[in-house]
Amino acid sequence: MTTAHTNIVLIGFMGSGKTSIGRLVAQRLGFQFIDTDAVIVERAGMQIPEIFERHGEAWFREQETCTLRSLGILNRAVISTGGGIVTREANHELLRELGFVVWLTASEDVIFERVSRNRKRPLLQTADPRATVHKLLAERRPLYEAVAQFTLETTTLAHEMTATALIAEARRAFSWDSEA
Ligand code: S3P
Repeated sequence: MTTAHTNIVLIGFMGSGKTSIGRLVAQRLGFQFIDTDAVIVERAGMQIPEIFERHGEAWFREQETCTLRSLGILNRAVISTGGGIVTREANHELLRELGFVVWLTASEDVIFERVSRNRKRPLLQTADPRATVHKLLAERRPLYEAVAQFTLETTTLAHEMTATALIAEARRAFSWDSEA
């Protein structure tokens, strides 16, 4: 792998487990854990629904790009990103420059079941959230696929097992020889 950074970058749709799995992987590798949404919330001084309401989606997307740029100094970090980070083409190169990009994917049913538990995501506040998930997934799948260096299907895996598979793949990608 040619990247200069030994970071693991997680991309994937809302509800794909990026934050929970990212935390687990970071803990097991002794890496720092960064969540780009949390960085944006901290810098803006408000939660994501409020950001969308007051500034709109385009402003949020700009913050995602600025956040990715600001993370370029990191090493030995697991970076979890918001589900829409791939919608801006300018982010694709930034994501790859940060490290090993892994797409966490799951079936549409599982995704919908998971996102239904958390009603705070602004893009899903629609009359028919199921149809919105279907539409966004269809639009974004090719984008995740284009950016990812590795895809991990998590539909039937517990988070612990996903973390184990991800670490094994990162070890191969970075040619680490020691056990993590
Ligand atoms: C978004 C996903 C959210 C958050 C924002 C927009 C998206 O992050 O960045 O609500 O466009 O898919 P999660 O993927 O962590 O839910």
